[in-house]
This record gives sequence, structure tokens and C-alpha cells, in this order.
Amino acid sequence: MTKKSTPAAFKADTVLTHTGRKPREFHGFVNPPVVHASTILFPDTATMETGGQPYVYGRRGTPTTEALENALTEIEGAAGTKLANSGLNAIALACLSCLKSGDHVLIADTSYGPTRHFADTVLPKYNIAVEYYDPALAGDVKTLFKTNTAAVFTEAPGSLTFEMQDIPAIAAAARSIGATVLMDNTWASPRYCKPLELGVDLSIQAGTKYVVGHSDVMLGAISASEKAWPALDALHGAMGVHVAPDDVYLALRGLRTLSVRLERHMKNTLAVIDWLKTREEVAAIRYPALETDPGHALWKRDFSGASGLFAFDFKAGTSTTQSNAFFDNLALFGLGYSWGGFESLAIPVKLKGNRSATTYDANLKSARLHIGLEDPQDIIQDLAQALDRAFSG
Ligand SMILES: Cc1ncc(COP(=O)(O)O)c(C=O)c1O
Repeated sequence: MTKKSTPAAFKADTVLTHTGRKPREFHGFVNPPVVHASTILFPDTATMETGGQPYVYGRRGTPTTEALENALTEIEGAAGTKLANSGLNAIALACLSCLKSGDHVLIADTSYGPTRHFADTVLPKYNIAVEYYDPALAGDVKTLFKTNTAAVFTEAPGSLTFEMQDIPAIAAAARSIGATVLMDNTWASPRYCKPLELGVDLSIQAGTKYVVGHSDVMLGAISASEKAWPALDALHGAMGVHVAPDDVYLALRGLRTLSVRLERHMKNTLAVIDWLKTREEVAAIRYPALETDPGHALWKRDFSGASGLFAFDFKAGTSTTQSNAFFDNLALFGLGYSWGGFESLAIPVKLKGNRSATTYDANLKSARLHIGLEDPQDIIQDLAQALDRAFSG
């Protein structure tokens, strides 16, 4: 039931507007119903025995969960999609669906911190060996392959430091040994990057961020290729994962405006970055949509847009007192971890404990910013006054 019905014949924005909706099946209502359900009744024992009706048990799916799964399946060009309780839960389920005892998994060193935590604390308990790789290796990731390498986990751009990866080259290398390729595609969302078209088998989305878009729901999704779908479907059912219908509904609603929100996030981000470049407190900006970014060529080739998340490095010699003062003086920006909502946010970048296959300057002070939908002039003004105060005297 999560299978793709028709290949996407329309352009991306048309698909986002219409996908996952079947008004004629629900009395003409534009949106699917929010079905709260555990028990689903059967007309007779024969139907019960054969499972001969579309829905059999609340945990296994409802018209609401199916609407979002179908929408994401169509947008991603996948064989099927499964929902998860959070982005991290989607990462964990995707990994467990393609790994077994005795396997070796390669994980990009620039992956989201809690991905590492999951890999370091859970996978070894199941006799799965975890190794981190430098995302700059691209297709040369094959030099790290072992006879038991079963999966390569990518994330582009990387968390906090925003390095791009050559996903098609990594996917080609992995394919040569039959390994599964996973990609955390939360930064671009499926509107700006289609991992399955790049050779990825399991495309992961922390729907919590841009899909939901309003900082009010935790939700994840995994869209799978034909090869990866049966194992994902089976594991998801066995683990009993179910996402509450109100949250699923909010994600469906978020999808309808994903494209217009992303467009504004990118426009505001570029305006803010243009201004940040003029500030002497700023040494470097990490955002692959910038021509000067080392990952720009890969971004341009594989992505159709950029979101509102980037980082900048403070100039050399910036003290912790100065960088903390910058964050503490922000008035419009909130200090908070989850991003992708309508509001501007900032956090200090902490790499300690989050990198092992790449090096970084331990004295470097960086800020990760999420640029929201406010007027860019107000955003800039807030950053200006916080920088002025932090670096005065
Ligand atoms: C790149 C990335 N992937 C996954 C996640 C996890 O999503 P969630 O917070 O929904 O578990 C996050 C959260 O910040 C993230 O930044």
C-alpha cells in the first residue's frame, strides 16, 4: 500500500500540492482525515483470516499515515516509505534494516552527532563494526571496504561543518560490492535533493525540520529503493513503529508549503551571508550554495536549492567570552537545537567528540545559524547588534 502508484509526471511543486490526497475517497474533503485508531473491525472471520481489507490494525497503518507515506514515496521516487517517531528513529531503523551481526558499516565523519551516538552505543552490541570515513574520500571510500562491508551511511552537507560528499561516486563504489547506501537528506529535504536518483538505497528525512516546518512535531521518514524496501518494510512492522495521526497530519500540511518556505529560507540566507561577508569578526562561511565553498560544484550538480542552515567561523583569536556574548546578545534569534521551522535560530558549534576520521581546529569558534522567514533586514540588524556588543572593548 505504500507502493508508488504512478511515476511523477508533474513538476515538483505540482506534486507537492497534490500528492497523498484522494478527495473523492473522502467525500470530497481536500485533506485526508486524521484517523485515530487502534482496533479496526472486520465484517467476518473470512476477511480476518485473509486480511482481506485495506487496514487491519492501527499500528500497521491508517489512511492518514498512508497519505504521508504515499506522498513521500512519490516525491522521492521510491519503492516505498516508512514513517518514524523522529529523525533519529528513522536513522536507527534504516541502519538496522540493512545491517546484521558480523557486518561492517562506514559512516561519514561529518554525520549528525546522535547518529554517531546510535552507531557507537547500539550497533556494537549486535556485533556490527562501525568505522568513520572522511567525506572528502568520495569514491575512494572503497579503499576502506572490507569483505563484510554492508552499508555506507552518508549525510550531505555534513552536520555543523557542511562538507559536501560525492554521493553518486560513493553509491557506485558501494554498488560494486553490493553494499547499501544510506543518506541523511534533512538539510536539502526531498524538494532540493533526490537521493534515490543519486544511487542511494535508503533516503532519510528528519521530517521534524523542513517537512513539518513549524517547530511543533517530531517525525522521521525513510524512503527506500526496490532493493532496500522489503527489509525496511519487514523491520518497521516487527519493531511496531507508529506515528500519531495528528503529527502525521501536520507533516502532510507542511509538505504543501515546503517549496515556498524553502525558497524564502534560501533567499534570506543568501542576504544574511552577503552581509556577514562584510563583517571583520567573520573569518569563513560554510554553505555549499556559495561559489567559494569547497563543496559548491557537488551541490550545483546534485542539488536544486539550498536551505536556511549554515555556519560561520569567528575570526582567529575570538575568545569563548566573545562568542558566548554574541549568542547571549541575540534578541530575535532563539538559542535552540532543532531547526527547519519558520524562526531564526543559533547555536555554538561543538565538534569535540563528533569527529574521529577528520581533523579540526580545537580553538576555532563557529556559529551555526538557521535563517528563518523573518524580514532579512531585521535578521541582519539582530546579528549586527550582537556582534557589535560581543566584540566591543
Ligand atoms: C541532519 C540531522 N539529521 C537528523 C536529525 C534528527 O532529527 P530528530 O530531531 O527529528 O530526531 C537532526 C536533528 O537535528 C539533524 O540535524
